[in-house]
Amino acid sequence: MSQSIIEKAKETLEFLKGQYDDTPQIGIVLGSGLGNFVEHIKIEREVSYKDIPHFPVSTVKGHSGKLIFGEISGKKIVAMSGRFHFYEGYSSQEVTFPIRVMKLLGIQVLLLSNAAGGVNPGFKVGDIMIINDHISFGTMNPLIGKNIDEWGTRFPDMSEPYKKNLIAKAKEIGAKANIALKEGVYFVVTGPTFETHAEYRMIHVLGADAVGMSTVQEVIIANHMNLPVFAASVITDIGIRDDENIITHEEVLEAAKSAEPKLAQLFVNMIAEI
Ligand code: HPA
Repeated sequence: MSQSIIEKAKETLEFLKGQYDDTPQIGIVLGSGLGNFVEHIKIEREVSYKDIPHFPVSTVKGHSGKLIFGEISGKKIVAMSGRFHFYEGYSSQEVTFPIRVMKLLGIQVLLLSNAAGGVNPGFKVGDIMIINDHISFGTMNPLIGKNIDEWGTRFPDMSEPYKKNLIAKAKEIGAKANIALKEGVYFVVTGPTFETHAEYRMIHVLGADAVGMSTVQEVIIANHMNLPVFAASVITDIGIRDDENIITHEEVLEAAKSAEPKLAQLFVNMIAEI
C-alpha cells in the first residue's frame, strides 16, 4: 500500500530535524519576486530539495530548489528557495507538501511572495501588491480528497486567508521605509500559458487586481493548518493593456529582479517586527 501523506510528512520531518536543531519561527516562500532574498539570511543550514525525502524537485528557471535554515533580524527562519507549481505536473498535494512540513517544523507565520500580472488599470510594472484576498476557482483545491482531521477541519473558514494584522504591519512598515505598496485580490490560474486578452479582462471584471500561477494552494493549506499568512506580489507585466506586445517569462523575471530590493526590505522589516 502506498504511504499516507501523514507518514511521509513524519519521515520528512525526522530527516529535517536531523539536519537542523533549532525551531524556525517563520516560514518564507521565495517566489520569482524574491530570488535573491537569500542574501539577507544568516544561513545556518541548506538542504537541497533533491535530498529531502518526499520533496518534489523544482523544474523552473529562477527557482533554485533548496530549503534554507537560518536567521534574519534575530529570528529563526526556514525559507523555500524555489517553490513548486501545479503547472509543473505535481498534484496540488505535492505542491503544498512543504507548507505542511514547515508548519510541522514549528513555524508560526508564513510569508509568501510571487510574480503576478496586473489587471488593475492603476498598476504598473514593478509595483508591489499586498495580497488581501484571492479567487481560487482557477486551480485545483489541495484539500480535495480525504480530510486529515489531525491537521485541520474538513471545511476551513476562508474569511481572512491573509491576516489583517500582518497586512496592517506591512502598510506601517511601507509608510515608514518609503516603500510604495498597492493592495488587492490575487486570482490564481494553473498556467503555464499567460492569459489571453479576454481572460485578463474577465479576471479584472471578476474582481481581481493581479493574476498568477502560484501561492493560493499554499495559502489554503496554511489556513487548513491554522497558520497565519502574509503574501505579496511583484507586478511583472500588465495584462490589461492597449498595445499588442507579448508577455515573456524573461520579461517577468527581469521585472521581478528590479523590484526585488523593495520587496526584500519589506520582508526583512516584517520579520524584525512580527
Ligand atoms: N499571468 C499569470 N501569471 C503570471 C503573470 C501573468 O500575467 N505574470 C507573472 N506571473
